[in-house]
Amino acid sequence: MWEDLEKSIQDCQKCKLCQTRKHIVLGEGNRDADIMFIGEGPGADEDAQGRPFVGKAGQLMNKAFQGLGIDRDSVYITNIVKCRPPANRVPEDYEAEACLDYLRNQVMLVKPKIIVLLGSTALKNILGKEYGITACRGKWIEKKGILYMPTWHPAALLRDENKKIDFWLDLKQVQEKCKNL
Ligand code: URA
Ligand code: SF4
Repeated sequence: MWEDLEKSIQDCQKCKLCQTRKHIVLGEGNRDADIMFIGEGPGADEDAQGRPFVGKAGQLMNKAFQGLGIDRDSVYITNIVKCRPPANRVPEDYEAEACLDYLRNQVMLVKPKIIVLLGSTALKNILGKEYGITACRGKWIEKKGILYMPTWHPAALLRDENKKIDFWLDLKQVQEKCKNL
């Protein structure tokens, strides 16, 4: 149950990210969503507000949602780690591992048909270290009845304009697939 999950995480100290966080960012959105988005971990804005993807990267993602006609409230959005890694570094393996049970519970509760993996950290921690984002993005991967769509992390779009079109096309595929499921 969501209440159990919320309770279990509220004072979590399973990894050292607990020492520097301001807020735990569990996730938000439709708890009955067909589509779940998984990012890397909270940044400064997310840590301050306790909400996922509310900073620059999140605003860019919102723009893509708006352009495609995807209602942000209709999907569920979360991250691999629920506490901000200092200076936005990539979460260490043991941090991701410590936090992954919460995500597994979220997936069990939401039961999404499609999971969008935002960037390398999400891809590698969910599907395995052997997967690379450059080779995999834009291609469906089915595992245990869930369809995965790896794509660029929205922060990567801020650094490289050319990735925006890929991101758009990948989300377009997700939208089309969802309509036909
Ligand atoms: N980047 C992420 O990976 N997640 C967020 O919630 C915000 C930025
Ligand atoms: Fe707990 Fe996850 Fe935060 Fe680590 S990142 S302290 S495992 S909630």
